[in-house]
Amino acid sequence: MQLQAEQVALIRRSFAQIEPIAPLAAGLFYGQLFALAPEIRPLFRYEPGSPGMAQQGSKLMQMLGVAVAHLDRLDEVTPALEALARRHVAYGVEPAHYDLVGAALLWTLAQGLGDDYTPQVAAAWAALYDTLAAVMLRAAHVHTDQLAAERAMRF
Ligand code: HEM
Repeated sequence: MQLQAEQVALIRRSFAQIEPIAPLAAGLFYGQLFALAPEIRPLFRYEPGSPGMAQQGSKLMQMLGVAVAHLDRLDEVTPALEALARRHVAYGVEPAHYDLVGAALLWTLAQGLGDDYTPQVAAAWAALYDTLAAVMLRAAHVHTDQLAAERAMRF
């Protein structure tokens, strides 16, 4: 899926507004994620509010930053996203979790951007997240299927 030029501009502008408050945004994000889906909490090694969780939040924001920097050539980040997705299988992440993370991300942007969170900005971020999640889900599914096939061959 290709993002429209106008969406690329909206995402860049709004991410620039969020970046200076990245640690706060990451904290809000995890708070909302765990409120939406408490069952996701145990997948994370760290306690909310701990230094480890802050570091985890900054990794998430960094990865989003990489995607935002490559918005007009997302193909270039596909291999990194696929590897990320395979690591997520090992973290215990399931396909159904992706929608929850997307919802928590959009909610966080709404909090951070205030009046600047227009329907257009929301739609642009939803399109970006859906694109990233689709790449990750495809890679994660293949991986899961491969594991199942390998296991089936062994037994
Ligand atoms: C576009 C979507 C996502 C992005 C960009 C993203 C990004 C990241 C990054 C950069 C890391 C750091 C570790 C690494 O690089 O392997 C990470 C770890 C993690 N992510 Fe994600 N993630 C996404 C979706 C999800 C979803 C849907 C879940 C579901 C709950 C999730 C749960 C986790 C967990 C459990 C960890 C490991 C935390 C730990 O080590 O305690 N992520 N994620």
